[in-house]
Amino acid sequence: MLSDKMELKLNEQINKELYSAYLYMSMSAYFSSVGLDGFANYYRVQATEEEEHAMKFYDYVLRVGGRVRFEPIEGPKVDFESTLEIVDMALKHEEYVTGLINSLMGLAVSEKDYKTSSLLQWFIDEQVEEEENANNLKNKVKLMGNDPKGLWMLDMECAKRVYTSPAKEGK
Ligand SMILES: [Fe+2]
Ligand SMILES: [Fe+2]
Repeated sequence: MLSDKMELKLNEQINKELYSAYLYMSMSAYFSSVGLDGFANYYRVQATEEEEHAMKFYDYVLRVGGRVRFEPIEGPKVDFESTLEIVDMALKHEEYVTGLINSLMGLAVSEKDYKTSSLLQWFIDEQVEEEENANNLKNKVKLMGNDPKGLWMLDMECAKRVYTSPAKEGK
């Protein structure tokens, strides 16, 4: 069983992961509207990963006998100024999510809830990758973004991203 507090916090995290998916879908839709289909693909794949994160928490809560309770999902930003604004926002968002995962881990440790710690360790490792990817893309946009040819090349690179189920690797 989960403590009431842990169940509540895990449900909040399901909501945050779904919000992440919503945010990345919004970014993807924006990129499609300005003809950057590669970036649109990149963030659409990212959104799918976030849905999977939500469902990994969802499955876990149910497996340990908890209840899943959905709350309304906050509306994401819809209008953006530039590619750099988006890649920077994506990095900041991932850093924010890392903080949420870290506080969940803090709670699990304080409750001696080792099974939830084990789940959260997967997310801690995943966040290292999420921040790394977001940082790499931001750096590339900073280097090449002002040059239309550079942006076009980056768009081609982002078009190659394919969805691989990270939540199913290893576990
Ligand atoms: Fe996530
Ligand atoms: Fe993420």
